[in-house]
Amino acid sequence: MSLAQVMRFISLPILTMMARAFTSEFNLLAHTEPEWKGAALQYREIVDFLNRSRISYAISADPVVSRPRVLQFRDLSTDPTAYPDYFVDGCWRQRMGYVGVRDYASYKKMWVLDQWRYFAHIMIMCISSRKAGKDAMGHDLAATMVGLSLNRGYNFSRYVFKALNDQINTAERFRFLLYPRFVQLLIDDALPNLPATWERLQVKRVDKRVFAQFLKPDSVEPNPEHTALFGHLINEAYVAPDD
Ligand SMILES: *[C@@H]1O[C@H](CO)[C@@H](O)[C@H](O)[C@H]1NC(C)=O
Ligand SMILES: *[C@@H]1O[C@H](CO)[C@@H](O)[C@H](O)[C@H]1NC(C)=O
Repeated sequence: MSLAQVMRFISLPILTMMARAFTSEFNLLAHTEPEWKGAALQYREIVDFLNRSRISYAISADPVVSRPRVLQFRDLSTDPTAYPDYFVDGCWRQRMGYVGVRDYASYKKMWVLDQWRYFAHIMIMCISSRKAGKDAMGHDLAATMVGLSLNRGYNFSRYVFKALNDQINTAERFRFLLYPRFVQLLIDDALPNLPATWERLQVKRVDKRVFAQFLKPDSVEPNPEHTALFGHLINEAYVAPDD
């Protein structure tokens, strides 16, 4: 029996309802082409960077509109899968203006400002493997921001596949539909002729209101520092120092 035949046996409304209830609220589509006016103007550098970065495809591929495509991150075989803790933490504090304490190896986006906060938000909403919590990111995701800023390699595929693998191996009651967009891209790639006979989940986008929200002064203690973007974020030709 083919998958398409199996799908016909399962009640569509029930399946769709279940899928909605268990689908991650993350792995959203990012803004790569915002209208450059109002608050969005202040984020121009980081949005431009994200649009030309190696995660650009991953944050903008919409499997409902453009299928089938491959999920790809332009990883190189020499890319590391992790960076030392002191290196990530040093970069966050010295270059990104991070002031927060680190509890359980998580970084909170409220402790960086300006374009950094938007950058962190996009990483959490589009790339993270979280089920809940839109304010914090783990060490691995914090490391990817360092790698992207310095134009250093990082094995993004591993980040995604490790999370999917952990999800498959976790107890049933903890499971949810992780990475709905990425999984759809993988399915479309592996099974290009699968008939789309059931209702597709709506692909969600990052809310445009964040552009204005992040500009509002907030009263967190201690106060994060304003630091300009640097390295590869503002210079396409930037090469990471060896050290
Ligand atoms: C994003 O990149 C594409 C090419 O990859 C380009 O056509 C488009 O103009 C860029 N958008 C912005 C907002 O820079
Ligand atoms: C990324 O890491 C995974 C797991 O360690 C490995 O199998 C894969 O080959 C790596 N990707 C690249 C392009 O090196």
